Amino acid sequence: MRRRRFVITIDGPSGTGKSTAARNLAKRLGYLYLDTGAMYRAVALKAVRRKVRLTDRRSLAQLADRSAITFRLGSGGRAQVLLDGKDVTRAIRSPEISDVASQVATIPGVRRALVRQQRAIGRAGGVVAEGRDTGTVVFPDAPLKFFMSAGLAQRAKRRFEELKASGHRVAFAQVLKEIRERDRRDQQRSISPLRPARGAVRIDNTRLQPDQVLAKLIDYVARGKSCVCID
Ligand code: DC
Repeated sequence: MRRRRFVITIDGPSGTGKSTAARNLAKRLGYLYLDTGAMYRAVALKAVRRKVRLTDRRSLAQLADRSAITFRLGSGGRAQVLLDGKDVTRAIRSPEISDVASQVATIPGVRRALVRQQRAIGRAGGVVAEGRDTGTVVFPDAPLKFFMSAGLAQRAKRRFEELKASGHRVAFAQVLKEIRERDRRDQQRSISPLRPARGAVRIDNTRLQPDQVLAKLIDYVARGKSCVCID
């Protein structure tokens, strides 16, 4: 007897703790953690390195289509992001790349290319996909979907601590301003705007610790046992 492995989606704005939640859930279930935001970031990094103008939508879509973005577990069990075979895990987390990523993510051709790659990764199931449109567009048939939120100040604080920990020097007010701007762009873009998927379980993560969030998610997975089919 073998449990069929399905796709679980977690969407929400940045700084809501959804990456930590998705990573922890994937680890607990023995699933792959599919960080779709990292894919937009990788395309942004490549565009910056190749000096492609952000107004050149065609070249950016081509760039996305011709990029091999993969994930692997590095030493110490840390998830690594590879762009065309090279480790870009740290390079894609800079404030500059955050900004460029949210701009390339508004380009339909870029989204089409990355959604295609994301679906290929999810085809066999056993994936926790995390991003902005994983429940609405990438995996609309996923049997379990979550939408995470948290207060703006808390989100900015998390992002600020994250940047500090990874050696980036930024002012808190700047982080707050950038999060507001990215929210606006993610929610108002015409293609795949950020919104909760139909049937998504909403989790407000303003006051929860990562282990409390994980416990909640696991609870839903267990409750949805009927959709964990036995082959
Ligand atoms: O989650 P993140 O901050 O790493 O995402 C980087 C950018 O990519 C962010 O501006 C939103 C965008 N994104 C998106 O449009 N769709 C996704 N599925 C994931 C991320």
